[in-house]
Amino acid sequence: MVDESGIMAFGRYAHIVGWGKAVPNRVVTNHELEQIVDTSDEWIRSRTGIHQRRIAVDPAETTATLAAKAAREALEVADIPASKVDMIIVATSSPEHTFPATACAVQDMIGAVNAGAFDLSAACSGFVYGLGVAKGLIASGQAENVLVIGAETLSRITDWSDRNTCVLFGDGAGAVLVQSSPVPGGILATEMGCDGSGGDLLILPAGGSKMPATLETVASGQHFIKMNGRAVYRFATRIMAEATRRVLSKANLTVDDIDLVIPHQANERIIAVSMRNLKLPEEKVFRNLQYYGNTSTASIPIALYEALEQDRIKPNDTIVMVGFGAGLTWAGTAIKWGVPTEKETSLWRASQRSASYGLAKARSQWLRLSHLLGSNLVTEDGESLAQALSNRLEDWRKQLESDEEEEEQRHDPKQEKPSLPNGTSSSDES
Ligand code: COA
Repeated sequence: MVDESGIMAFGRYAHIVGWGKAVPNRVVTNHELEQIVDTSDEWIRSRTGIHQRRIAVDPAETTATLAAKAAREALEVADIPASKVDMIIVATSSPEHTFPATACAVQDMIGAVNAGAFDLSAACSGFVYGLGVAKGLIASGQAENVLVIGAETLSRITDWSDRNTCVLFGDGAGAVLVQSSPVPGGILATEMGCDGSGGDLLILPAGGSKMPATLETVASGQHFIKMNGRAVYRFATRIMAEATRRVLSKANLTVDDIDLVIPHQANERIIAVSMRNLKLPEEKVFRNLQYYGNTSTASIPIALYEALEQDRIKPNDTIVMVGFGAGLTWAGTAIKWGVPTEKETSLWRASQRSASYGLAKARSQWLRLSHLLGSNLVTEDGESLAQALSNRLEDWRKQLESDEEEEEQRHDPKQEKPSLPNGTSSSDES
């Protein structure tokens, strides 16, 4: 494993400076599920703690569109343009395709013209794995700004006739912008683990290279989530406490140092047993699974967003996020919260951003056209027409950004970045 203290020695810390959330509008209650499978509101509440979930019923709403919406909000809060993002990591168990990566669609949608993009497959632990990767990229100097997104449309891979699974899952996305800073704190340590021998316990059997799609795989429901609930439950109740202890030890902290735990929102009973094992008081554990069900990779960032919204996190707090999932995987991270939790964006800036996203969309459409036309239509200089138009749109977007920076300096020449709790700006030298 990586020597965590060695990474700190570089003096580059990884702080979460922006956060966003996107959930579909359609709420599906337990009572509605009573109409389609042999279950009851009472059973679901008492065995899982879930009251309702959000489901993406509009086919135009996909894992990528939810991810992009959450990402835009995270950039808004962080107050940086999409062009400053170096890497986009989308953790997902319900990607748009096997390839290309959902992260590439997000890159295009938000106009992150300077970003690399890839998907991370570690099931429900994926978002916390993503934070670990983001920290590594930042600490090693490979990135300044990394978008880490957890996004799902699990409803599209759920068997709505299987009561063992369909009552558990929901759709949604959460995103954070992780930024390099010389100010100590941020992501202190991460624990990422796996026990591949449990792979069959929670699996989407078909559609990959081991079991390609055939009429039989479709007819026998092999493209839907299959789960051994009891075995996963036993694993989860053991590993949540264990992963928390391990990450605390890596960060030289104890359970008493924790201000808030944000556990993977899979099941109320799993959270209760795990937190009891850790002897953590109720008020230090955040829960919102009653509203969303298990949104896999999105559960922790959505919960983080709502914890911030509810003022449950303050600068200098120690936060632990911990999850488990198919693989079997687990992951935990300990964070010293570094930035103010209330952010204001001026109307002027918001409209600049929205214009910039409009240009990103137009640019994307021209680029798509360019891929189709190849070099059939060219300008007098021999440049592809679509590419030339795309370059012009990119110039306008850059112009918007420089107008934005000038406007920013006119209003507040000193404050370029959100200030950190010790009063320094995140762009100060250490
Ligand atoms: N409604 C009503 N009854 C249901 C039901 C439902 N939705 N789902 C299962 N049952 C039934 C079972 O068929 C079983 O009936 P039986 O005793 O006649 O066989 C009974 O309820 C008890 O089933 P059991 O599996 O023992 O329930 P449980 O208390 O273990 O709870 C889970 C089931 C799925 C809620 C629980 O095992 C769990 O949360 N596991 C972890 C799942 C998870 O978190 N997965 C995602 C990981 S990221």
